[in-house]
Amino acid sequence: MDGRLKTFLKSRFPALVPLLRRLKFIGTSPQERFAKIYRRNTWGDEDSSSGSGSNLAQTEAVRAVLSSLVRELNCRTILDIPCGDFFWMKLVDLDIDYIGGDIIDEMIRDNQHQYGNSRRRFLRLDLLQDELPKVDLIFCRDCLVHFSYEHIFPALANIKRSQNAYLLTTTFVHRDRNEDIPTGGWRPINLQVAPFNFPAALRLIDERCPEAEYRDKHLGLWRTADIPVL
Ligand SMILES: C[S@@+](CC[C@H](N)C(=O)[O-])C[C@H]1O[C@@H](n2cnc3c(N)ncnc32)[C@H](O)[C@@H]1O
Repeated sequence: MDGRLKTFLKSRFPALVPLLRRLKFIGTSPQERFAKIYRRNTWGDEDSSSGSGSNLAQTEAVRAVLSSLVRELNCRTILDIPCGDFFWMKLVDLDIDYIGGDIIDEMIRDNQHQYGNSRRRFLRLDLLQDELPKVDLIFCRDCLVHFSYEHIFPALANIKRSQNAYLLTTTFVHRDRNEDIPTGGWRPINLQVAPFNFPAALRLIDERCPEAEYRDKHLGLWRTADIPVL
């Protein structure tokens, strides 16, 4: 649908917005949706093809604390899924074995070529269904916010099934309700309210998101064993 027509319909008939969002994704698999976003740089950030949430300003607070958290938890291995284009993570001095996983083949190939080494490798992994490597910490930033409930539940089940010790993942702590969206879109989610109902996090890291509307963006740390069976 023509962009101007879409903007017109959205402004004149706001009730149509959920339907328009769904139409956009009809006939494409979740993998194709994310591959298209990557190829076309749809999330269009100057720094990172993984979107503005992955630029230097928006990752400053996370970059400042991630390595000390990893040390504190005695982690020797981390799975960063999804790793996206590894733009900001390349600046974090982790000093542990790192596996980056993402669903987009060409991005994984590019990452492996540019950043792979003896302690860092990149694997094409589908968080929804692939068996996850054995690690101490699963880092899942800015991922579930792009998934429909239909995909969040299997992703969480897969993480729990991995029996890896910890999950560090995005949660917006001041939302009192969640909404469903088609996979490939975006909205904030709070993992501690319905339908996810996570227990209190072991740790909450404030991302200090510079966007006023999203100031409550955090990374929450849970034991994977404590992820509720959904
Ligand atoms: C917004 S980016 C976040 C990247 C990274 N975590 C960061 O903080 O920069 C979302 C990523 O999720 C990946 N993705 C989407 N569905 C996935 C799936 N089922 N399994 C693994 N990765 C997936 C996309 O390809 C995209 O690279």
